[in-house]
Amino acid sequence: MLNSLAAVPLAALIFSSCVLGAAVEKRIPVPAGYVAPPYYPAPHGGWTSDWTEAYRKASLIVSNLTLAEKTNITAGTGIFMGRCVGNTGSALRAGIPQLCLQDGPLGVRNTDHNTAFPAGITVGATWDKALMYERAVAIGEEFRGKGVNVHLGPSVGPLGRKPRGGRNWEGFGSDPVLQAFGGALSIEGIQSVGVIATIKHLIANEQEMYRMYNIFQPGISSNLDDRTLHELYLWPFAEGVRSGVGAVMVAYNAVNGSACSQNSYLINGILKDELGFQGFVMSDWLAQISGVDSALAGLDLSMPGDVHTVPLLGNSYWMYEYSRSVLNGSIPVDRLNDAVTRILATWFKMGQDSPNYPKPNFDTNTQDAEGPLYPGALISPRGVVNEFVNVQGNHAEVARAVARDAITLLKNMNGSLPLSRNATLKVFGTDAEKNPDGINSCADQGCNKGTLGMGWGSGSARYPYMDSPIDGLKARGANYKFFNTDSFPSNSNPSPGDTALVFINADSGENYITVDGNPGDRTSAGLRAWRNGDKLVKDVAAKYSNVVVVVHTVGPIILEEWHDLPSVKAILFAHLPGQEAGDSLMQVLFGDVSPSGHLPYTIPKSEDDYPDSLDLVGFQLGQPQDTFTEGLYIDYRHFNKAGIKGRYAFGHGLSYTTFSFTNATITPVTPLSTLPPTRPAKGATPSYPTSIPPPSEAYWPESFNRIWRYLYSFLDKRDADAAAAVASSTSKYPYPAGYSNVQKPGPPAGGAQGGNPALFDVAYRVSVTVSNTGSRPGKAVAQLYLQFPQGIAWDTPVIQLRDFEKSRTLAPGESQTLELRLTRKDVSVWDVVRQNWVVPDTEGEYAVWIGEASDRLTVRCGTQSGVCESGVKPPV
Ligand SMILES: *[C@@H]1O[C@H](CO)[C@@H](O)[C@H](O)[C@H]1NC(C)=O
Ligand SMILES: *[C@@H]1O[C@H](CO)[C@@H](O)[C@H](O)[C@H]1NC(C)=O
Ligand SMILES: *[C@@H]1O[C@H](CO)[C@@H](O)[C@H](O)[C@H]1NC(C)=O
Ligand SMILES: *[C@@H]1O[C@H](CO)[C@@H](O)[C@H](O)[C@H]1NC(C)=O
Ligand SMILES: *[C@@H]1O[C@H](CO)[C@@H](O)[C@H](O)[C@H]1NC(C)=O
Ligand SMILES: *[C@@H]1O[C@H](CO)[C@@H](O)[C@H](O)[C@H]1NC(C)=O
Ligand SMILES: *[C@@H]1O[C@H](CO)[C@@H](O)[C@H](O)[C@H]1NC(C)=O
Repeated sequence: MLNSLAAVPLAALIFSSCVLGAAVEKRIPVPAGYVAPPYYPAPHGGWTSDWTEAYRKASLIVSNLTLAEKTNITAGTGIFMGRCVGNTGSALRAGIPQLCLQDGPLGVRNTDHNTAFPAGITVGATWDKALMYERAVAIGEEFRGKGVNVHLGPSVGPLGRKPRGGRNWEGFGSDPVLQAFGGALSIEGIQSVGVIATIKHLIANEQEMYRMYNIFQPGISSNLDDRTLHELYLWPFAEGVRSGVGAVMVAYNAVNGSACSQNSYLINGILKDELGFQGFVMSDWLAQISGVDSALAGLDLSMPGDVHTVPLLGNSYWMYEYSRSVLNGSIPVDRLNDAVTRILATWFKMGQDSPNYPKPNFDTNTQDAEGPLYPGALISPRGVVNEFVNVQGNHAEVARAVARDAITLLKNMNGSLPLSRNATLKVFGTDAEKNPDGINSCADQGCNKGTLGMGWGSGSARYPYMDSPIDGLKARGANYKFFNTDSFPSNSNPSPGDTALVFINADSGENYITVDGNPGDRTSAGLRAWRNGDKLVKDVAAKYSNVVVVVHTVGPIILEEWHDLPSVKAILFAHLPGQEAGDSLMQVLFGDVSPSGHLPYTIPKSEDDYPDSLDLVGFQLGQPQDTFTEGLYIDYRHFNKAGIKGRYAFGHGLSYTTFSFTNATITPVTPLSTLPPTRPAKGATPSYPTSIPPPSEAYWPESFNRIWRYLYSFLDKRDADAAAAVASSTSKYPYPAGYSNVQKPGPPAGGAQGGNPALFDVAYRVSVTVSNTGSRPGKAVAQLYLQFPQGIAWDTPVIQLRDFEKSRTLAPGESQTLELRLTRKDVSVWDVVRQNWVVPDTEGEYAVWIGEASDRLTVRCGTQSGVCESGVKPPV
């Protein structure tokens, strides 16, 4: 999502909207073979037993709402028309307040007295399920404390298909299973304190450039096949739905030529029917491009409520237009009832009807105590908008633990690390110290200056403070001299025994801000370090014989220019630590703890090592086309298939100690059949009268005090009456091909939240004993990769991550047994013909590989043989 006046060149838009009109809303042909089929109607929500009570409560309210109240709840009141980035209309007569929707995945955006948590990619690098959950509980507490109803996170899409993609850092890594655990555990943590989580962005939003529909051009079309969708990009969404996520945000881009915000196959078919999603679907900010069509395709909430062409002028596809569309018979009232019921059921499910649920007490539009209540109205009543509520609690602790346990030691020659307490340090690079202009001097962190703690855009937060690496050195009383420059300083003379610490970084962000020529995606920086970081490392390495490189980064960078220099002894990726950059790093550098992070992506030796289809798509006339010809083969799946050795493999990460994996066992649990058992039937959903309500339900009330440009759901009497007349005329809405209003039983692959519940039956339990075989305490990560049986009819990546567990801190000589599992879904492929998950060979020998990294697999268990052994030649 975006949220900046600067994002919308209003004058240009107003001018050209007259010229171009709505032509771009028509679908433009996509490459042969890709089709966005129709799927109607929008499935009713409420059919899974875990939501029955919430739907019962919601339906009692909905059955008593007027048309204008209902359409008020399904849209925002307009961009900059309230304290939060999204503010729904209310139905106060029925006790339904405006809902506050607020960014973003790493903490409450644009506020004060908050925590700037480590970014998603950092969380992924911990490979620690407990920390994933604990961070999310803390995030949930902060959103609740600020009075936010709907948290706009976690982000599990982009998946990191394109290494240059701008927003990969908001998610958890370039693998669907790592991404799925990160997303699902975040949802469970956030919702445990009653905040509605929003999984986003559905789907295949893999680059920033050309993502949005505007009046010049339709948004980019991600063209991908059904199997790739299911086995990669949809996987984390399925797990998020299974965890009971309350909201889904659809992406800006199109899939197979149809905008995600009105792609009926995606929302109605895949999300609501196959995955059994019971919450509500919102648009990304200004991603909605139609009124009736998006409603029929399953969109439930329009955000921020404005039309996408020229926002801020009081125009909407919904609100008053939704009222009109129901009165004139184009949107069945049944569809509106379902959308409102979904929103209110989610609100009830999280317990937000409780009088204890806080009201918004901050304002995303200003840091001042007082300001306009409706900044978008230009002339607005003023009042207290920021109450400076401190929601930090003790959350710095979990933030620091995540930042620390994510730190990934890539290289450590001859035990250069940890540093001794008395080491003499020379520190280079502006990334080591806070932005001298102020830690929040750039709106939405839209600059790269000083320590990089997060990327830029709507997924950023303001820092309450930044504990920089230099702060960390100071706090330790370390013996250091800092050269706050990115050019090698002539006054730096090495003394014998010096260790040089070089800080470099690489940034990216969201498309509405361009930083140093990078419009979100890393177009001009490529996969190189920013601010001449490579040269700085080389210059330092030429003078100093003991060099440690610390990298703050959004994703992979190419290390080759200096990786093998003899004086470059150690390399650490500290990812994006948020506010806790300093002490977390010191704890690792000085050996209070051993590093235990592992790469959530592959680091290649050259960008050419990726398939060409993973390049950013540049300008194209018409609709830019991004065709996922690589299929399943992204990141390590590709490197393994192509036989290319990256610099560091997915999952790589060293420790100061060593571990062994022994005594593995594999136990079959649920017997497998080719197809999962038949799904359960849908339960009952609320039913309401289907007759069109009287137009009077949409009339403006007498003497209503309107706010200029605010979005309302009312119509003038004349307009409402005219719409009602259309309904009884012969004039009919041109429904899309395949349109129907008869509810379906749902596809075989569905049956509960996340899909057929049998998909999540445990097929095999695997245990492994990890022992600390070195001389320092440390935590190990057991990564479980699955290799499908030989000779099956499906081409599958040679190994795919399916589960992982991190040990507690193990003292030298200490052991812990870790439990892992494989579900039926884990051992299945998506069969595009049967439209179901299929176990390709129920008698086949799957190899279950366990190790510390995707290229360090030391234990093999066979599902058929039941044998686990060490010392077998790994498949990669
Ligand atoms: C996109 O087109 C491919 C190829 O026809 C098809 O397999 C897939 O299901 C389509 N996906 C969507 C979301 O429309
Ligand atoms: C609807 O609300 C009115 C009061 O506004 C109340 O009298 C009536 O009982 C309510 N109906 C239902 C079905 O709750
Ligand atoms: C819609 O919500 C707005 C904002 O809370 C409110 O002013 C308006 O009265 C609501 N409309 C209806 C029909 O309740
Ligand atoms: C009903 O109103 C909607 C919203 O203005 C409009 O898009 C649609 O075409 C109308 N339907 C008919 C049949 O005129
Ligand atoms: C590491 O130590 C070994 C001997 O233990 C030595 O041969 C090698 O040169 C050392 N490497 C570096 C980079 O110092
Ligand atoms: C630091 O102290 C250790 C003994 O604790 C000593 O061996 C080493 O030489 C000292 N290093 C420096 C740089 O003073
Ligand atoms: C592994 O199993 C053997 C035999 O049961 C046992 O002697 C050994 O202690 C176990 N090793 C670890 C590390 O638990």
